[in-house]
Amino acid sequence: MNFNTEVLKLDENLISTNNIEKLMKEEAIKRGAELLQQGEVVAFPTETVYGLGADAINSKAVKKIFAAKGRPQDNPLIVHIADKAQLKYLSDGEIPESVLKLIEVFWPGPLTIIVAKNKEIPDITTGDLNTVAIRMPSHPVALALLKLSSLPIAAPSANSSGYPSPTRAEHVYSDLKTKIPLIINGGQCQVGVESTVININNRKVEVLRPGGVTIEELSAVLGYNVSYCNREYKDETPPSPGMKYRHYSPRTPLILIDRGKINKIEDFIENYSKPVFLITEETAHANIIPDDESIIKIGSRNNLALIAYNLFNQLRELDRADYDLIIVEKLPEKGLGQAIMNRLHRASLKDIYIK
Ligand code: TXA
Ligand code: MG
Repeated sequence: MNFNTEVLKLDENLISTNNIEKLMKEEAIKRGAELLQQGEVVAFPTETVYGLGADAINSKAVKKIFAAKGRPQDNPLIVHIADKAQLKYLSDGEIPESVLKLIEVFWPGPLTIIVAKNKEIPDITTGDLNTVAIRMPSHPVALALLKLSSLPIAAPSANSSGYPSPTRAEHVYSDLKTKIPLIINGGQCQVGVESTVININNRKVEVLRPGGVTIEELSAVLGYNVSYCNREYKDETPPSPGMKYRHYSPRTPLILIDRGKINKIEDFIENYSKPVFLITEETAHANIIPDDESIIKIGSRNNLALIAYNLFNQLRELDRADYDLIIVEKLPEKGLGQAIMNRLHRASLKDIYIK
C-alpha cells in the first residue's frame, strides 16, 4: 500500500510542559490513536529514538511494521505501555524481584525488560519466542498516544531495517515516506540511543543491549556488577535475536579507530578519495589529523550524553554528504560509551588493524 504520509507537528513548548492530558487533546495524538485502533502503524517520538508503533495484540497490524521497515520476522518487538499495571496483562507469571526493583527506579524511561509472555500476545510480536520485551517510555508524546489509544503498542525504531535509528521526524520521513500513514513530529529525541534491554540469567540481571540506562546505574541499584552479554553470535541462537543482525549502518563504509592510532591511518585512507573523520573535540584540538582532511566534531569525551544525542543524526548527515569513508574515533566503553560503541561496532565494516 502506498500512503501520502502525513506529518503532524506538536508544539515543543507544549511537549516540555509534560502535560499528558493536554497532549491527548491535540490533533496529532487523536489522529495517531485513531489509526492505531484501526490497525494501522504510526511513527512517534520516544525519549530514545522514534518508534514505529502498532497495536501489539493485533497480528495483522504488527505485520505492517515488519513490511514497512523490511525487518526480519524473527526479530521481536518491544511492547510499550503507559502504566506499570499493564505488565500483568502482558506477562505470564511472576516478575522477578530484581526486575521490579529496576522498573521502580527507571520507569518511565529507557529500560526494556524481557519477561515470560502472556498467550494473548501474538507470535509475530515476539518473533515466536515465549518471552516478551516491555518498556514504559517517558516521552510525554509517547505516553499521551499510549493512553489515548488504550493499547499496548509494539514498536521498533522507525528506520529502514539496518539503517541508523531515527532521532528526528525527518529521519523517519526519509526512510518510510509512502510506507506509513502518519508521523507524529515531536522534535529531536533527548537520549539519542535506544533503551537498555535486560534479561534474567541464573537469577541475575544481564544486559542484552546497552542503552540509555547505563550498566553502572543498574549495578548500583542491584548491589552487584551486572554483566553485559556481548558475545558474537553467528550460527547459534543468541538470547536476543537482534544481536545477530547488522545494524545502524550508513551506506558509506565506516571504520573505527583508536585515538592513539589516528596518526597512523594515512596509508589506509590513501585508497579513498574523500574520507571524513568523526572525532571528539579533544582529539580535534590535539591536531593529530593532517590539515587537508575533513573533520567533524561529535562532542567532548567528557559529555557522552551529548555524543549519544548527536550520534545517529551525525551518521545520517555524513551519509548524505559525498564522503567515501567515515572514520570514527573509538570512545571508552564506560557509562553511555558502552551504548555508543555497541552501535558503532555494529555500524562498522570491520575493525581495521593498524600497527
Ligand atoms: O529505545 C528503544 O528501545 C526503541 C524505542 C522505539 O522504544 N525501540 C527499539 O526497538 O530500539 P528495536 O526493535 O529497534 O530493538 C529491540 C531489541 C532488538 O534487538 C530485539 O531483538 C530485542 O530488543 N528483543 C525484543 N524482544 C525480545 C525478546 N523477547 N527477547 C530478547 N530480545 C528481544
Ligand atoms: Mg532498531
